[in-house]
Amino acid sequence: MSSTSSFNAEEHKNMLRSYFNGNGFSRWSSIYGNDKLSTVRSTVRQGHAVMMDRAFEWIRSLDLPKGARILDAGCGTGLFSIRLAESGYAVKAVDIASQMVEKARQESIAKGVSDRIDFEVNTIEEVQGSYDAVVCFDVLIHYPAEGFVDAFGNLSTLTKGPVIFTFAPYNRVLAFQHWLGGFFPKKERRTTIQMIRDNAMRDAMETTNMKVKSSEKISFGFYHTMLVHAERSPK
Ligand SMILES: C[S@@+](CC[C@H](N)C(=O)[O-])C[C@H]1O[C@@H](n2cnc3c(N)ncnc32)[C@H](O)[C@@H]1O
Repeated sequence: MSSTSSFNAEEHKNMLRSYFNGNGFSRWSSIYGNDKLSTVRSTVRQGHAVMMDRAFEWIRSLDLPKGARILDAGCGTGLFSIRLAESGYAVKAVDIASQMVEKARQESIAKGVSDRIDFEVNTIEEVQGSYDAVVCFDVLIHYPAEGFVDAFGNLSTLTKGPVIFTFAPYNRVLAFQHWLGGFFPKKERRTTIQMIRDNAMRDAMETTNMKVKSSEKISFGFYHTMLVHAERSPK
C-alpha cells in the first residue's frame, strides 16, 4: 500500500468481512435471491442478472475445455459459481464472508453441483492457485482507487488467461448522490460503492501489467457497472 495514502488495506478488509457477514449478507442475499424487493433493489437484481448473462457469454466465447479451472473471487451466494459448475467447469469459489460461502455451498448442494465447486473462506488478496480464468463480480466496487491495485493485483497473478471483473466507473451524478448520502445517519446508509476514474483504472492495469481487451458498460435502473475482460500484457 502506498505510504502517502490514509487508506488502510487491513482495516478495509476487516470492515468488508464484518459487513458481509452481517447487514450486507441479508441485503445482498435477498437481492440475489427470490425475495420480493423494493423497486430500487429490483433494478439492482435485474441489472446484476444482465451483467452475469453477458459475462457468461464472454466465458463461453473463450472456448475453454470441459473441466477448465475457473476462480470465482468474491462468489457471494454462488450464483455465477453454480452456473459455471452446471456448464462443466471446475470452480474454485472464494469469499471473505463465511456466511456467503455457507449460503453458496447450500445452494450448490440444492442444485446438485457441489462436487464441482471447491469453496473457501478467503480474500481476493490472499487466494492462491492457478486457473484458466478468473472472475470477480461486484467485489472491486467496494474498493477505493487507493486499494484497487492491491485488491486486483493478486487476482492478476493467478491466471495466464483472462480476468473478467466489474468496477464502478466514475459518474458525476452518482458521485453527487453518494456525497449527499454521506449526510444521512450511518445506519441509513447503504454499502458505499467506490467509483474509479478512468486514469486510476489505466494506472491499475499498467501497475499490474494487464491490458483491457474489452469492456462494456451495464446500466439498468440503479445498477451501473463496467464489465471488463483484462489479460496479461505481452512482455
Ligand atoms: C456485492 S457481492 C457480489 C457477489 C457475487 N460476486 C455476485 O456478483 O453475485 C460482493 C461479495 O464480495 C465479497 N467480498 C468483499 N470483499 C472481499 C474480499 N476482499 N475478498 C473476497 N470476497 C470479498 C463479499 O463478501 C460479497 O459476497
